[in-house]
Formats: sequence, C-alpha cells, structure tokens
Amino acid sequence: MSDDEMDIDDGPVDTRVSFSAGEAKGKRSAANLPVEVGDSLPWVEKYRPQSLDDVSGHEDILTTINKFIDQNKLPHLLFYGPPGTGKTSTILALARRIYNTKSEAALRHHVLELNASDDRGIDVVREQIKTFASTKQIFSSTKPEANASMAHFKLIILDEADAMTSTAQNALRRIMEKYTSNVRFCIIANYTHKLNAALLSRCTRFRFSPLPVAALRRRVEHVIESEKVRIDPPAVDALLNLSRGDMRRSLNVLQACFAGSTPLDKNGVALSGPDVQRDLITETAIYECVAAPHPEDIQAIMNTLLTEDMTTALLTVTRIKTLKGLALTDILQAVAEELCRLEVSPRVRIQWLAGLAEIEGRVAAGGNESIQTAGFAGVVKIGAEMIAKS
Ligand SMILES: Nc1ncnc2c1ncn2[C@@H]1O[C@H](COP(=O)(O)OP(=O)(O)OP(=O)(O)O)[C@@H](O)[C@H]1O
Ligand SMILES: [Mg+2]
Repeated sequence: MSDDEMDIDDGPVDTRVSFSAGEAKGKRSAANLPVEVGDSLPWVEKYRPQSLDDVSGHEDILTTINKFIDQNKLPHLLFYGPPGTGKTSTILALARRIYNTKSEAALRHHVLELNASDDRGIDVVREQIKTFASTKQIFSSTKPEANASMAHFKLIILDEADAMTSTAQNALRRIMEKYTSNVRFCIIANYTHKLNAALLSRCTRFRFSPLPVAALRRRVEHVIESEKVRIDPPAVDALLNLSRGDMRRSLNVLQACFAGSTPLDKNGVALSGPDVQRDLITETAIYECVAAPHPEDIQAIMNTLLTEDMTTALLTVTRIKTLKGLALTDILQAVAEELCRLEVSPRVRIQWLAGLAEIEGRVAAGGNESIQTAGFAGVVKIGAEMIAKS
C-alpha cells in the first residue's frame, strides 16, 4: 500500500488545528478553531457546545442520534434548518463523542470538514472527498473507551451543502454509495429544496427548528453567569424574543451590549479586569442594539392608527419613524404581531394581514418608503373603520 492510500497516525502534529483537508483554499471554516480559547474570541465560538450535553434544545434529535451511535448504526445524516440553531455544533460534538477525543488534532484523522460555500466545485467533491474517503483507518488513535466499532468509520461533514453546484451534488451521490463501508456523511444545509432529491434520499433527515425561548435562555444564562454580565431581567426576555430562535444572534447581541456597557478610559480604550464596574444592560439597550422598534413606539403607532384620523395618524407614524430611525419593514412586522393579538372579526384580520403582506412585498421590491408608509397607515385605518361600522 502506498503512502497516499492510508492515513498516517503518528506524524508530526500541526500546531494549527483544523478539521479540514481543504487548507489549500486558505479560508478557515467555522469549526477550524485554534484550540486555546482566548478572551478575544467571539462568544459564539467561545461557547460553542463541546459535547452533545451542551447543545440546548433539539432533545428528540439528540436522543435519536445517541441511539444510532449506541447501536452502531449511524446512517448518513442530513441536518437542515435556519441559521444559528446548532447544526454545525451538533455534528462537531457528535464527532467528539464517536471518537471520544477533545483533541482537534486527533479528530483531524477521522473527520473531514468541508465548507461547501467555499469549496463547492466538482473538483473538490471528486478530489478531496475521494482521497479522504478512500484512505483506510489502519490505526486507532482514539482512546480505548471510544465507541470501538463506530471509530472505524470516517466522518465527512459537508457544511452549507445547499451552496454546492448540482453537478457536485450529482458526483457526491455516487461517492456516498461507494464508500459507505468506511465513511459516513453528514450534509448540513439551510434549505433542503436546493439539494438534489437523490442525495436527500440517501440521508436520514433531521430538521433543526428555531430554538424555543427556554432553550435559548438556558445557554444565554450560562454565558451571562460565566461572563458576569450585568443585565436587567426584562432585557434578557427582550433579547430572547428578538432572537427568533437563533442562538448565534442571541449571543452576538449580548456580547455587543456587554461591550457597550463597559466603561472606557480617557484614551477611549475599554477597561478590563475583574474590578471594572459595568453599566446595567437595559431593555432599551437591547432594542437599540438590534435596531428593532421598542414596544412603546409600536404601541404609540398602534394607538394613533386605531383612534385618530388619517392625517394625524400618518404624521405621527412618520414622526416616530424619523425620530427613532426605524425601518418600515421592522414596523410592519411588529405591528402585524400586535394586530394579531387583538380580538377582531376574521374579515378585519384578513384585511390587515393581506394588506400588510402586500406592502411588505412592495418595500422588499424597492418601493418608495414614504408612499408605502402611507399605504401601511391606510391598511390599518381601513380595518379600524370596518370595526367602527360593525
Ligand atoms: N442548540 C444550541 N445549543 C447551544 N449553543 C448553540 C446552539 N445553537 C447555536 N448555538 C451557538 O450558536 C453558534 C452557532 O451555531 P452553529 O454554527 O451550530 O449554527 P448552525 O445551525 O450551523 O448555523 P448556520 O446554518 O448559520 O451554519 C454556536 O457557536 C453556539 O455558540
Ligand atoms: Mg453551520
């Protein structure tokens, strides 16, 4: 057997740590992190789950996957769902469990992680995957407690596979079949409709839905405690609601607000150390950070539209919008949610939602903001008049 037909276990260990064999492309993917986790690291990476126990939510998926491993019957996997819900983190934690190692260098022998957004061409599928998949595991670098039979498999993670060309996806299905004896694939995507049907049918699918508030809260509170963030409880609630099930967003906004709450020295440099007295992060700070309309502003917009005449209402809406620098799309979304909470006849509700949906479409298509703002005010007012007449 020639050298390139096999993996070599005990060669010099590269100090740069990477899962990927695709270093020639230069760009590091999300998983290819340095081992030492410094303070400069964004919290999303610093607090990336290390084990399956750290993954918040998705209990059903985790139970099923754990069963697969216990029974030594891991199929090819497909993880799909919206951003920031833990797809990449789960597969990396799963790899650590299968090979029972926390060392990224050791994992590198078993796991090939390709970010299909960077390397989506046919040549990558043919060359990198084929080379990795066709090499045999002739060593066992994993600890004896590693799941012995599972550790014979190599794992190929194709992250963001919906960005792969369809030719590359076609090439992949043959490769998947050919190397099933020693390789398991995990395909990760945001949208399944961009994936080849034949590819989909070769995988067991798991949908990572937006995380419920309770699951977000568990992880966010862990970070708040570890980083000693001073935050008002209503601000935590606002943060979790505004994240809409995206944990990455929660952690990024929390870190941005934390940075904003840190005092600066006279040269404008943020103070650091355990004695620094930080400001309390308030609900308003959270809304400002995500540039989302504050509930008070939405309430004021709702009041004027539902109770005052069209001219006054339009003037008030425009004034609040300009004063607070709000975007019409954000107002539309927040007002639609509020209107849905009102007890009105189905006819009125349909008039509101159909009208707002149409305006949202026109804004997205590049419609004039002030004309669409007037249209928005008109839609809500028509519904209010229907209520008054009934
Ligand atoms: N379920 C979760 N439990 C704990 N942390 C999570 C979870 N989901 C996301 N995170 C946090 O958010 C970050 C991003 O998560 P991850 O990269 O796994 O998302 P993803 O689903 O792969 O998103 P994308 O589709 O954008 O690639 C992680 O580093 C982690 O800090
Ligand atoms: Mg990902």
